Amino acid sequence: MYDTEKLATDVNQTETKISARNVQVYYGDTHAIKDVNVDIDAKAVTAFIGPSGCGKSTFLRCINRMNDTIDVCRVEGDIKIDGEDIYDKRVDPVQLRAKVGMVFQKPNPFPKSIYDNIAYGPRIHGLAKNKADLDEIVEKSLRRGAIWNEVKDRLHAPGTGLSGGQQQRLCIARAVATEPEVLLMDEPCSALDPIATAQVEELIDELRDQYSVVIVTHSMQQAARVSQKTAFFHLGNLVEYGDTSQIFTTPQDERTESYITGRIG
Ligand SMILES: Nc1ncnc2c1ncn2[C@@H]1O[C@H](COP(=O)(O)OP(=O)(O)OP(=O)(O)O)[C@@H](O)[C@H]1O
Ligand SMILES: [Mg+2]
Repeated sequence: MYDTEKLATDVNQTETKISARNVQVYYGDTHAIKDVNVDIDAKAVTAFIGPSGCGKSTFLRCINRMNDTIDVCRVEGDIKIDGEDIYDKRVDPVQLRAKVGMVFQKPNPFPKSIYDNIAYGPRIHGLAKNKADLDEIVEKSLRRGAIWNEVKDRLHAPGTGLSGGQQQRLCIARAVATEPEVLLMDEPCSALDPIATAQVEELIDELRDQYSVVIVTHSMQQAARVSQKTAFFHLGNLVEYGDTSQIFTTPQDERTESYITGRIG
């Protein structure tokens, strides 16, 4: 009984950040996302899992309109962030992507200095009034990316000269520099070794105090470690969505169960 009460309070406290209704995605004739409906929590980590080709990256890219950049791709349905339709004609995709940052599988720092990697976004979005302001944003973002101590003495060295794990934390710092509200991460640790992975996972856990994080991962251990909610996709369908602990211990759909026990994938 006590547990139920606690659960009820927890449910009341969660706030929806992103809500998707009847989302369909087509690449030409390929129907890649089939009628997906989901509410994603604010200030929590949500994991997207499922076999290769099931549509995880495609759906993730709907949330910051990155699919707009793919010619053959067509998105239908509604996606709202804080109740606002992100596909509305008045929404500028560039502004949207500053608010909904993205981190990719392969660390992709710009061929610029560590400082300029971070300063780039705030400069183009006019977030700094002067050099001192910009310096402050750069330091704050690098701290948020848990990489400040490693780079503070070499801010003007190229970002590409860092190790893979450092580059990925630099990319996370770059994504947070434009003060996003949502961070999308598509397999952010798949190019990293176990130590760098642990550092990035720890960082993701810290980031949820401020951002809504959505992470695509092939590692079920990682999903279990870092996320509070998990969505299982299969052949373009969102098969099951719920608390991570529930999805991994008592999945309701046999496709979810087969996947998490390693029978499909
Ligand atoms: N740019 C594209 N053009 C055409 N088809 C695409 C494109 N990107 C993805 N698809 C197709 O859409 C479907 C979903 O692909 P998606 O990349 O979203 O899967 P995924 O779950 O991220 O897979 P993985 O785990 O391998 O990254 C697949 O059938 C894929 O072939
Ligand atoms: Mg993918």
